[in-house]
Amino acid sequence: MTTVLAIETSCDETAVAIVNNRKVCSSIVASQIPVHQQYGGVVPEVASRQHLETINVAIAQAFEQAQLDWGKIDAIAATCAPGLVGALLVGLTAAKTLAMVHNKPFLGVHHLEGHIYATYLSESTLNPPFLSLLVSGGHTSLIYVKDCGIYETLGQTRDDAAGEAFDKVARLLKLGYPGGPVIDKLAQQGNPQAFALPEGKVSLPGGGFHRYDASFSGLKTAVLRLVQQLEKDGGQVPVADVAASFQDTVARSLTKRAIACALDYGLDTIAIGGGVAANSGLRKNLQAAAIKHNLRVLFPPLKFCTDNAAMIGCAAADHLSRGHTSPLTLGVESRLALTQVMKLYQPIE
Ligand code: KG4
Ligand code: ZN
Repeated sequence: MTTVLAIETSCDETAVAIVNNRKVCSSIVASQIPVHQQYGGVVPEVASRQHLETINVAIAQAFEQAQLDWGKIDAIAATCAPGLVGALLVGLTAAKTLAMVHNKPFLGVHHLEGHIYATYLSESTLNPPFLSLLVSGGHTSLIYVKDCGIYETLGQTRDDAAGEAFDKVARLLKLGYPGGPVIDKLAQQGNPQAFALPEGKVSLPGGGFHRYDASFSGLKTAVLRLVQQLEKDGGQVPVADVAASFQDTVARSLTKRAIACALDYGLDTIAIGGGVAANSGLRKNLQAAAIKHNLRVLFPPLKFCTDNAAMIGCAAADHLSRGHTSPLTLGVESRLALTQVMKLYQPIE
């Protein structure tokens, strides 16, 4: 069994967890959302400063909640890519320093690999191969999970990520930041069939449409036009109906692509991860379609859908069990494809 202290500071949560393989001993998530709300989105420089102020307290709280001491920690991990550079640097530097001081192995973890591993925290028997639908504020991808560190991207968004679309539509409906949870709540009181919105398709050069790639920027513009028209007509904008129609369109688009991908590649399990995996409309839609096609859909508990460090620790424990560690010279990267994960680890002797 491997016990890992993990740190996640890629965006706007300062998160620290202690994980024993797939078992979460403690998970601390200090959200900066109230700080960024006044600006209507994440301000990178503010995020870095907040991480700096919070990180040491969060580490102490993780030990306290787990009732463990340094003697029980086998390795220290931190998210090193992708994300906001200044924010990532805080967590990575803390992890490398602690690894040096306590003379423990260090592992850098890819944020999206962490989101894939979030499903492992509640599914003790899940093993590759399976299909991962990653839907967060920065990414929308369909990933063929072949083994620890071995991934193939089968589909992605051509423009806005799903979470980004939720945030932008929430902004134009004047619902504040972050948009996903507010739209989700409002949509439950609205009619998803109230407005027909374009799903957004990606054309193929030879004709037809891409089966797995999605596009959400046209949908966002369609919502903007709809709202402008409704305002011009002088009536009150039925915000709940707009939210429900938008959410349903996103849910159907993602569901259709994930199901097609799983069936085409003969994968019987779809694991969903990232902040948008918390969306009730997407969960319902995907679950219903999966039952129809005899597929299994796994959702992490809500607290492990959005950013957390437990998922980072779980990924690191799996890498460490295979002898993978990272050099202390490892830096952060704002962008790094999931297919490049093994670059973070030293060759096995
Ligand atoms: O994975 P995450 O916490 O951070 C990133 O790695 O991006 O995802 C954050 C995104 C935000 O865009 C937020 O609006 C969205 O996830 N989100 C949701 C819900 N909860 C969070 N989107 C739709 N429905 C939700 N319930
Ligand atoms: Zn994330």
